[in-house]
Amino acid sequence: MDKILVLGASGQVGIDLTIRLIEIFGNHRVIAADLKEPEEEVGCKFVQLDATDKDSLLSLVKREKISEVYHLVAMLSATAEKFPIKGWQLNMDTLFQVLEMARQGLVKKIFWPSSIAVFGPTTPKEHTPQHTIVEPATIYGISKYAGELLCQWYYINHKVDVRSVRYPGIVSWKAEPGGGTTDYAVEIFYQAVKDGKYESFLNPDTELPMMYIDDAINATITLMQAPAHSINIRTSYNLSAISFTPAQLARAIKKHLPSFTIEYKPDYRQQIADSWPKSIDDAEARKDWGWSHQFDLDKMVSEMLFQITKKLKKTV
Ligand SMILES: NC(=O)c1ccc[n+]([C@@H]2O[C@H](COP(=O)([O-])OP(=O)(O)OC[C@H]3O[C@@H](n4cnc5c(N)ncnc54)[C@H](O)[C@@H]3O)[C@@H](O)[C@H]2O)c1
Repeated sequence: MDKILVLGASGQVGIDLTIRLIEIFGNHRVIAADLKEPEEEVGCKFVQLDATDKDSLLSLVKREKISEVYHLVAMLSATAEKFPIKGWQLNMDTLFQVLEMARQGLVKKIFWPSSIAVFGPTTPKEHTPQHTIVEPATIYGISKYAGELLCQWYYINHKVDVRSVRYPGIVSWKAEPGGGTTDYAVEIFYQAVKDGKYESFLNPDTELPMMYIDDAINATITLMQAPAHSINIRTSYNLSAISFTPAQLARAIKKHLPSFTIEYKPDYRQQIADSWPKSIDDAEARKDWGWSHQFDLDKMVSEMLFQITKKLKKTV
């Protein structure tokens, strides 16, 4: 039976996505692969693999009869600003390889996430439309926009069924975030529960589009299960749930932990955040494949505090 490969399965999105795919398809149909060993049992076969090693990736795909790839390997925005060449090579080379495997008929369907980082300082910041000015200001954003166009090129010229969404900042509790500019919105919960205080690397009024992990996973699976004829955008769909600032997030946390305090010490990530939109118009995703989000700010905060408190108690 054909199998599903999650590439980058030990990362922030990969951990939750692998669990969900196992729930839907069973553990015999899902293969998790990553450079990094998972911290906990993944519940399906795990293969340690460097996705830039073309031969290893190809032999895994052939050996396991992989028909679908969720390609999550990437160097994220903040890290890629420090290692631009490595970031570009990782983000582009691995995508090329997976797309090539599909062009050769080995893989039938690909999911590859883009990001709100494709937008830049010249993009309209409020309700950023699907089609607008796209002049990313970071290496990560440039690689994601090039990736979007590459996906579209493979779809038009080689009928490769590759699907994509522009994830906003993702908030989750199972895995540590992987070096992005929105990581503050995860770190803040750990610090709130452990120490009752947090020092934010973004200014209090930095509004960014964000999403709780369950919504991100639902969007991913819904897009992949949608009939091909309903997918009208083959670059990447705008995707939106909530927007908030560090100050608003801190206030929502304070409703549960009244003694929580926050200080602000912006660093190099402020400049990246300032180049991104505040909110996103995702009407096309809602119209084409029925996307809708479930988590607002308060629901997300309750769930994060509950899960992280439970997790930290277990590790003591
Ligand atoms: N998390 C977010 O807020 C967010 C927002 C927008 C887009 N995205 C995109 O979603 C995808 C997943 O992001 P994430 O947050 O889970 O990232 P992450 O950094 O948490 O996970 C990426 C995983 O890839 C693995 N990896 C790195 N190099 C590898 C290699 N050479 N071979 C095999 N594995 C390798 C890492 O070990 C890590 O487990 C990425 O494409 C990212 O750009 C994420």
